[in-house]
Order: sequence, then C-alpha cells, then structure tokens
Amino acid sequence: LRTGRGSAHAKVILFGEHAVVHGAPAVALPIDGLGVCATARLLDDVDDVEGSAAPAASDVERRPGESTIVTDVYSGPLDGAPELLESPRAVILACLEEFGLSGSGVEVTVTGEVPHARGLGSSAAVAGAIVRALADLAGAELSQELYLDLVGVGEKVAHGAPSGLDAHATAAAEPIIFEAGVARVLPHRTRAVIVVADSGVAGRTRRAVASVTSFLERHPLRGPALMAGLGALAQQGALDLAQGRPEQLGAKMAEAQGMLRELGVSSPELDRIVDAAVGAGAYGAKLTGGGQGGCVIALAADDEAARRVATAMRLAGAVATWQHRLEGSSS
Ligand code: PMV
Repeated sequence: LRTGRGSAHAKVILFGEHAVVHGAPAVALPIDGLGVCATARLLDDVDDVEGSAAPAASDVERRPGESTIVTDVYSGPLDGAPELLESPRAVILACLEEFGLSGSGVEVTVTGEVPHARGLGSSAAVAGAIVRALADLAGAELSQELYLDLVGVGEKVAHGAPSGLDAHATAAAEPIIFEAGVARVLPHRTRAVIVVADSGVAGRTRRAVASVTSFLERHPLRGPALMAGLGALAQQGALDLAQGRPEQLGAKMAEAQGMLRELGVSSPELDRIVDAAVGAGAYGAKLTGGGQGGCVIALAADDEAARRVATAMRLAGAVATWQHRLEGSSS
C-alpha cells in the first residue's frame, strides 16, 4: 500500500500574542519535543481490492472511494467526524482536491502529544502533519506557500481569522519573528530553558481575541499603547534572544504579562502559575497564546533551575509541564 508521512510540532509565543492580530510583530519558538505525526494511505489500492492488505483501522463502515480519519477521539468516515475534528477534516478535503486524490479513498491517521486548546498550536500542528502526509502520498511538490495555504484552511475553521503565526511556527525549525504575514528566522544565542506549564483550563483564543478588540474600542488611547508596547517587547526581545541575554528576556516576559493582564486575557489560574514560576527563580514568566486559560511559559537559567520552576508551577495548579532547551542557533 502506498503510504505518506508528515509531521509538525508545537510552538509557544514568546512575545506578541494578540498584538500580532493588530499588526504588531510577534516572536514564536518551535517546541520540537512535542510533535504530531500523520500517515496517509490509499485504501482503494489494488492490494486492498484483492484482500491481501490489512484492514484499515477506520474501514468499518466505509464506502468505496470514501476517505476516513483515525485519531484517538474518533475513527471512521470523514463525513461522520465530530465537530472537534472539523479543522483536520477541512484540511484533508482541501488536500485531496489539491493533490488530485478526491474519490481515492484515503485513510489519514493522526497521532501526537500536543494537547488541544492550550495555546500550543495543536490545530496548526495537526494540519501541518496532515498536509505533509498527503503531499507525500501523492508525490506532490509542496511549496512553502501551498503548505501555508492548506494549513490556513484548517486554521480558519479552528480560529476564525488567525494571524498565521501558528502555521509558520509549527513548521519552523528555529525561533521566528512574524509580522504582517511574513516570518523570518531569528538568529539566537541564548542558552536557557523554557518551561511550558499547562493550566489545565482550555484556552479561549476566539473569545480572548474578541475581548481584546472590545478593549481597543473602549480604550482608544490605552489600547493602542498596549499593542505598541507588546510589539516593542517583541522587537527588543528578539534582540535579547540574538545577543544571549536571558535576564533581559525574562524581564520583558514579565512586562508583557502585565500588559496582557491589563488587556484581560490572563486569568487567576494563569497569574498564580506565573507568580509561582517567578517565586521559584525564573527570569520571567507569562501566558502564551490566546490566554484566558491554556499555558504559561517561564524562562529558567538551566535544567536544574527549570526543574525547580516546573515543580513550583505544578504546585500552583499546572497539570503538566514540559522543558525545552534553548541552545542557540549555529548561524
Ligand atoms: O492560542 P493560540 O496558540 O492559537 O495563539 C493565539 C495567538 C493570537 O495572537 C491570540 C491569535 C493569532 O491569531 O495570532
């Protein structure tokens, strides 16, 4: 049986969430230790018809030519997929059409460790893995532009009007700075450890984005000042990252958290985890992604400091933590 494979990974936003929606720059880091894999195979291959192939995991009620999806929440025909899978379903349909596979009967299997709705880019990572697997299956050339378009199909379903940051960051190998739809790789010389802590509360990106828009309407002076402030922290933070200045980075993360709190996108749960991280010696900590739930990131000096910070974050309510080493890039 022909099989295609693809993967993508989680991301965190170091600076610029929300402000990026209003035109400011943002800095995002790929978290390659937290990945999503997809495999795609043709179910209606000759082998299948002759009955020599293993039955498809999702083949139970499939009509010939119908495509299916296999995940840990649902396995079966695409058309019967639950609302939670609306974004991957839209991406699969767009890819089948783009790669000339419509009506071929394709099974797409998605596995991964990126928790859903925690601001870690799970929807973009799932979409990215699917796009790569289906392009691989079709033997199709996948330009960066086509990749981003196809991931964007799913992101629109998942988030309404996304900035596009997640689609870039979940495919990037290095930190990026993103502005006006364009991502640039950031050279970086910082050695430190990012601790990612899941508050256990589902993030509400759509609602948080709407509440920032409403803040901007209600505060015509302070709102734009906060957007500009968050954008400036992203610009200056990018320099700190490039120059290897973790203390300054941490201080800017704390400043960004203050602004995000003022915008109303933090929450008592997130604030508690941020305070615990700083109390345990982190250089700085802030929410990451849409907020009002989701994850907190903290910057620690090294693995040992990161362990202390992670423990404190768990004691403050985090249900899971991950550590990601910043090693500095070769460039
Ligand atoms: O919650 P996430 O990881 O999807 O991040 C959202 C980031 C926002 O800036 C709030 C929205 C966006 O589209 O960039």
